[in-house]
Amino acid sequence: RDSALVLGIETSCDETGVALVRATPEASELLVDAVASSVDEHARFGGIIPEIASRAHLESFVPTLERALAEADVALADVDAIAVTAGPGLVGPLTVGAAAAKALAVALDRPLYGVNHVIGHAVVDELVHGLFPDRCMALVVSGGHTSLLLVEDAVTGVTELGHTLDDAAGEAFDKVGRLLGLPYPGGPHIDRLAREGDPTAIRFPRGLTAAKDQARHAADFSFSGLKTAVARWVEARQDAGEELPLADVAASFAASVADVLTAKTIAACRRHDVGTLVVGGGFSANSQLRDLLAQRCAEAGIELRIPPIRYCTDNGAMIAALGAAVVRRGLPASPLDLAVDSSMPL
Ligand code: KG4
Ligand code: ZN
Repeated sequence: RDSALVLGIETSCDETGVALVRATPEASELLVDAVASSVDEHARFGGIIPEIASRAHLESFVPTLERALAEADVALADVDAIAVTAGPGLVGPLTVGAAAAKALAVALDRPLYGVNHVIGHAVVDELVHGLFPDRCMALVVSGGHTSLLLVEDAVTGVTELGHTLDDAAGEAFDKVGRLLGLPYPGGPHIDRLAREGDPTAIRFPRGLTAAKDQARHAADFSFSGLKTAVARWVEARQDAGEELPLADVAASFAASVADVLTAKTIAACRRHDVGTLVVGGGFSANSQLRDLLAQRCAEAGIELRIPPIRYCTDNGAMIAALGAAVVRRGLPASPLDLAVDSSMPL
């Protein structure tokens, strides 16, 4: 068959995503990407509550599936394959999506493919910029992940070169946001504030960039020391009764995160002789990171591919895209007793 309709299901965190991708040997075309979010239900807790997210997936799944089918004008019987996030993520939410995917696979008698959420954040770029280059580097940054991947093949050849040893980049932004008294999630608020501040006002630390870290942690990240440094700096001003230069703190903090992510990613491209960089995950909305990446990739002669923001946050399209890539390679289906894995390796 030269064309397959792949249904993608994503429920690893607080977004219920259902998408349809038409896969041919040459391309993947997105037909629809329906998303329901429970983010507002978590806001008053200042973080995702897994039990609330699980329940919301349970309630949203069927309506989101029906909306996707209606928008694409596709019958469920036309679906050729079902892809679902098997991990990493929250185990309750993952289980809801996997149960739904298994039920559909059995009812429709179609193959089931359990796929990796982090790789999905990179492969979704195929829907926008065309099939992956033969080799590329992928930086996946969100509230849950900060990973640097060497991609030799989007399905069978992904190597994780490094990841965060503590907080993810978005998580660090959200924690500093709380520290500065900003609403949850703080990331976009800090981004906005930072645009009015001086990024050189305060020299915050750049985690794992010292010479001694190069041997073991060249492609790893650490943001918890930075978060502590910001907290100390803020406390010292407050203790002295001084007013906080909020925009300068935000800009200096954001500059540190963007600098470390960009410098380590470009160094990895050089080390592995890679000419294309794909960036994904909700944190790639960050304007400090985007600006610095664009500038330094241009200087280094590296092609930069960042999908539009709606593809960077969690959605079904990334899972349908990865499912399509699996189908295109003719790989075997997952067993129907597929287990979800909250810390799924690559
Ligand atoms: O991928 P995503 O929607 O959800 C997961 O974490 O998987 O990413 C959301 C994260 C949150 O931590 C949010 O604060 C952060 O990305 N974020 C931003 C920006 N937009 C979203 N952080 C900084 N600047 C932004 N513009
Ligand atoms: Zn994600």
